[in-house]
Amino acid sequence: MILVTGGAGFIGANFVLDWLAQTDEPVLNLDKLTYAGNLENLATLQGDPRHVFVRGDIADGALLQRLLAEHRPRAVLNFAAESHVDRSIHGPEDFIQTNIVGTFRLLEAVRAYWGSLEGEAKAAFRFLHVSTDEVYGSLAPAEPAFTEQHRYEPNSPYSASKAASDHLVRAYHHTYGLPVLTTNCSNNYGPFHFPEKLIPLMIVNALAGKPLPVYGDGMQIRDWLYVKDHCSAIRRVLAAGRLGEVYNVGGWNEKPNIEIVLTLCALLDELRPRPDGKSYREQISYVKDRPGHDRRYAIDARKLEQELGWKPAETFETGIRKTVLWYLDHQEWVAHVQSGAYRDWVSKQYA
Ligand code: NAD
Ligand code: DAU
Repeated sequence: MILVTGGAGFIGANFVLDWLAQTDEPVLNLDKLTYAGNLENLATLQGDPRHVFVRGDIADGALLQRLLAEHRPRAVLNFAAESHVDRSIHGPEDFIQTNIVGTFRLLEAVRAYWGSLEGEAKAAFRFLHVSTDEVYGSLAPAEPAFTEQHRYEPNSPYSASKAASDHLVRAYHHTYGLPVLTTNCSNNYGPFHFPEKLIPLMIVNALAGKPLPVYGDGMQIRDWLYVKDHCSAIRRVLAAGRLGEVYNVGGWNEKPNIEIVLTLCALLDELRPRPDGKSYREQISYVKDRPGHDRRYAIDARKLEQELGWKPAETFETGIRKTVLWYLDHQEWVAHVQSGAYRDWVSKQYA
């Protein structure tokens, strides 16, 4: 089996669902169920013996030791993290704890477990660390996209904590020979995306008749990838990636934020027109910028494409339409995640 951490979050849950749709290899899913973790994302796996869920913290060394000894996974994939930049600006502590201390504890437990393996089991074992393009910092308009050689220049507490975790993973390979792989991916979107992030926030606010808060001038650029394409890239790197290597993952879809918001408005105008006949664009509201806001991210995914033959299946146009349709079809899921804690966050951030 494989051990997935953070498998009740946005990308982790998509990964677990896709994995079990493609193979019968069981998944041990370790997730702390923070505000971002949601077992409803995995509801279709209820009663499926191939999915074993454990609520727990990647920083809990004793729990990790026990789970690894009991379940003897052939690979560990680390998705667990605090992932929202705005929350890291309001309160960085949880980011340091989970993303740095948690990754360290996980590496320590995995190092001990891997050290106890022998022969083929030891040779085949993999630790795959899921990371982000934000560790590379911000690009000027004409600069080439981030390659794996780009220097680390993290600018937010979130990206700094992910950068630290990437360095630990690298060091465990260099120093202890741990068989690691790291992926640095661009912005994901798709089903089960928690509505504190740009795309799902805009969809749920639009449908609720609320303002669509665009930070600053809305001209910051992100490079968007449909979440299931990120999952297929991770499966490919796990299967064939070279040990100790880093693979950038992206879909060559650079877009300014305001273009994303206008695209969402146009799709909603078509699929769920406002009762008053006006466009959802009327709800766009420019608000105070994010402190230290990175201007542009862009991923050069040629290494992954050329070395491992990976390609995204979705264009931005097909992926974003699927995403809007998913949210329109899953209004109950949206209602459930908009708990009191979610409402507290929204009023704190957009007051
Ligand atoms: P998310 O916030 O939606 O989910 C994170 C999950 O981790 C949640 O289920 C949460 O309960 C769990 N978790 C948090 N702290 C934990 C802990 N201490 N122990 C165990 N579980 C814990 O995040 P996401 O968007 O799904 O991101 C997953 C990973 O992918 C993260 O490492 C993130 O840095 C990386 N990433 C995200 C994106 C993106 O666009 N969302 C892009 C590139 C990389
Ligand atoms: O690049 C990969 C990263 O993408 C991941 O590592 C992070 O985990 C993930 O959250 C995401 O980070 P961003 O900060 O790019 O995503 P977010 O959805 O928060 O914001 C996307 C852009 O939209 C960013 O430029 C800020 C802007 N924005 C965001 C929100 C929530 C707005 O203009 N208004 C908003 O209300």
